[in-house]
Amino acid sequence: MNSTSLPTMFFIGNDLNVNRLGYGAMRLTGQPGNFGRYADWEAGKQLLRRAIELGVNFIDTAESYGPGDNEELIASALYPYPDDLVIATKGGVLKTAPDSIRADGSSKSLRRSCEASLQRLKIDQIDLYQLHRPDPNVSFAESIETLAELQREGKIRHIGLSNVTISQIEAARQIAKIASVQNRLNLAERAGEEVLDFCTQHNIAFIPYAPLGAHPLKRGAPLANTEGTLTEIAAHHDMKPNQIALSWMLHRASNIIVIPGTTTISHLEENIAAASIALTADDIKLLNEAQAF
Ligand SMILES: NC(=O)c1ccc[n+]([C@@H]2O[C@H](COP(=O)([O-])OP(=O)(O)OC[C@H]3O[C@@H](n4cnc5c(N)ncnc54)[C@H](OP(=O)(O)O)[C@@H]3O)[C@@H](O)[C@H]2O)c1
Repeated sequence: MNSTSLPTMFFIGNDLNVNRLGYGAMRLTGQPGNFGRYADWEAGKQLLRRAIELGVNFIDTAESYGPGDNEELIASALYPYPDDLVIATKGGVLKTAPDSIRADGSSKSLRRSCEASLQRLKIDQIDLYQLHRPDPNVSFAESIETLAELQREGKIRHIGLSNVTISQIEAARQIAKIASVQNRLNLAERAGEEVLDFCTQHNIAFIPYAPLGAHPLKRGAPLANTEGTLTEIAAHHDMKPNQIALSWMLHRASNIIVIPGTTTISHLEENIAAASIALTADDIKLLNEAQAF
């Protein structure tokens, strides 16, 4: 029943030291569909400021959230930024309607996207710039070479990938140093664990998106509303199922940075409190072996 030790920080690209319980800002956009400006702009600012107060220093966003509005909200709430804040954004996806996204990984599009993010975020260099998804109509090498050029020009500090396979990560690593990978993974959806393991082996940050199992376009966290093993372990720790689901991710590998998304400060506080849970080896075994949540 020993508790496992839990490193709280991770160095992205060996130099950006972040708290492993971060915040995913996508939900602070127009709903449904993460499209347009967040309806309660002031409440969004307050939530972002509360996240910083609680020790969050890693915030994930993307040009396509809005598009653009989410980055503007972050700048409006937090600029001038705390010295240790790491903002990760993404380019390479165009969003023209609530339910419509299209990859564009061409050099021209990524350059435009990066410049626009720099302006909206009011910075000279993006800490972590992630290719949002590979574009099936553009050579993957063209996308990665463009990110490498932007890095040489000083506009990007570190390059990340999202929605990728191991072979795509390997191909990208032939061209540039890859600091992070962001794929969908949570306690109930573990199909991508081999990508996580590859990242762990190569000291690449792994940022599991939808850590509470949310549908990308719908509100609500399936892992907050469960019965069975998760609920039983949560009761034992006097915590909620969603907190145990986040804690499981933090225990799963030391290169994981979790970015739960929420629009409510009470949920934010609850999610961040998950960083202090010490799961036992038995808890982890039970969670790993559970078939459904
Ligand atoms: N790279 C990609 O392609 C990609 C795709 C999707 C997401 N992402 C990133 O991943 C981040 C997180 O993903 P996500 O927001 O889709 O999913 P999520 O973190 O799994 O869940 C968010 C949903 O769960 C609810 N929730 C959060 N905390 C809760 C709590 N303590 N109790 C009950 N419900 C709670 C939220 O509703 P309330 O607002 O009511 O709390 C929200 O609807 C995004 O912000 C984005 O940065 C990346």
